[in-house]
Amino acid sequence: KIVPVIMAGGKGTRLWPLSRASAPKQFLEFLGEKTLFQKTLERVADTALYEAPVVVTNVDFRFLVAEQARTTGIALASILLEPVARNTAPALAAAAVLIERLHGADVVMQVLASDHEIDAGDVYFDCISRAKAAAGAGRLVTFGITPHEAATGYGYIETGEGIGNGAYAVRRFVEKPDRARAEAMLAEGGYLWNSGMFMLPVGLFLRELRQYAPEVLDAAAAAVAKARHDLDFERLDEEAFARAPDISVDYAIFEKTPIAAVVPSSFGWSDLGSWDSVWKTGRRDEAGNVTDGSTTLFDTRNSLVLSRDIHVAVQGLEDVAVIASEDAVYVGRLEDSQNVGRLVKLLAAEA
Ligand code: GDD
Ligand code: MG
Repeated sequence: KIVPVIMAGGKGTRLWPLSRASAPKQFLEFLGEKTLFQKTLERVADTALYEAPVVVTNVDFRFLVAEQARTTGIALASILLEPVARNTAPALAAAAVLIERLHGADVVMQVLASDHEIDAGDVYFDCISRAKAAAGAGRLVTFGITPHEAATGYGYIETGEGIGNGAYAVRRFVEKPDRARAEAMLAEGGYLWNSGMFMLPVGLFLRELRQYAPEVLDAAAAAVAKARHDLDFERLDEEAFARAPDISVDYAIFEKTPIAAVVPSSFGWSDLGSWDSVWKTGRRDEAGNVTDGSTTLFDTRNSLVLSRDIHVAVQGLEDVAVIASEDAVYVGRLEDSQNVGRLVKLLAAEA
């Protein structure tokens, strides 16, 4: 069976002011349903296919994770807590060390982002079984999404020769290219976006970490060895984990390893990473507006207007995001959505 590993430690700053340091986007009810984290758990609930999931998150989010998992009724194998944020490579290294200890090196782990909107129907599960086969054949497997714009927030995968079961070798992996490079790859063709979900044979993933990111692996392994069990939580040792460099698994491993493969995937997928992607994914009315909460729109088109508590009225605007939380309001052009993270840095500096 596959061991699910859910990455739930990101801060989601580009979705400010709904996504806050205290409750990032994976823990929010988006356009009023379950939270993205809960929907992620439900994708790995089939006990015929999956072992109990491991959640790896920041210590600050431990109660959100425990409480939201409890309400789904899905039992977790472990909640692994990072004492300091070091991005996804150290988080996944720690999870892999733990899983090797629990299940051995031959088991396959499926890494899931906790903040994506995914249409988990037959197409999705078909991709999962292809990826599992490719992982079983000795590959670190990514899921590739057909790109439709020169987005700079994703990893780009150049596909190589077929390796069977609808999987392909990865010729090149380019994490978050600049705009010019993204446009060139889109024009050239033969590239897919990295979905941010992976299928990894645990032993091989650890071997590649040893090869390409030894400081990450050493820090993570020491942090697991000295971890402290506390209630429902597995607390990684702070001194050891803090020694890990701050790096994502995309830069640390996928840009470097020669054993990556990609399963081209056509299931519905959206990284709800920024306000423009929330607008694109949401249900648009005749005027192209997506709204939620208490709002009134007049002579307004192709906009996203969300409000938690206060009433928000918008008149005479196009292509904008207006997002109101209890104590902060954001107004900006949808096309500037990728820059909200920078705005939040400015806010943090002023605070
Ligand atoms: N446990 C833990 N610890 N989880 C983390 C951390 C951390 O320090 N940082 C981020 N995460 C979680 C996030 O909550 C999210 O679920 C997932 O890991 C991915 O992190 P993001 O920060 O959202 O990554 P990204 O969107 O910039 O880029 C990744 O996803 C893209 C697709 O959405 C990359 O894999 C790209 O290559 C990919 O295209
Ligand atoms: Mg993301």
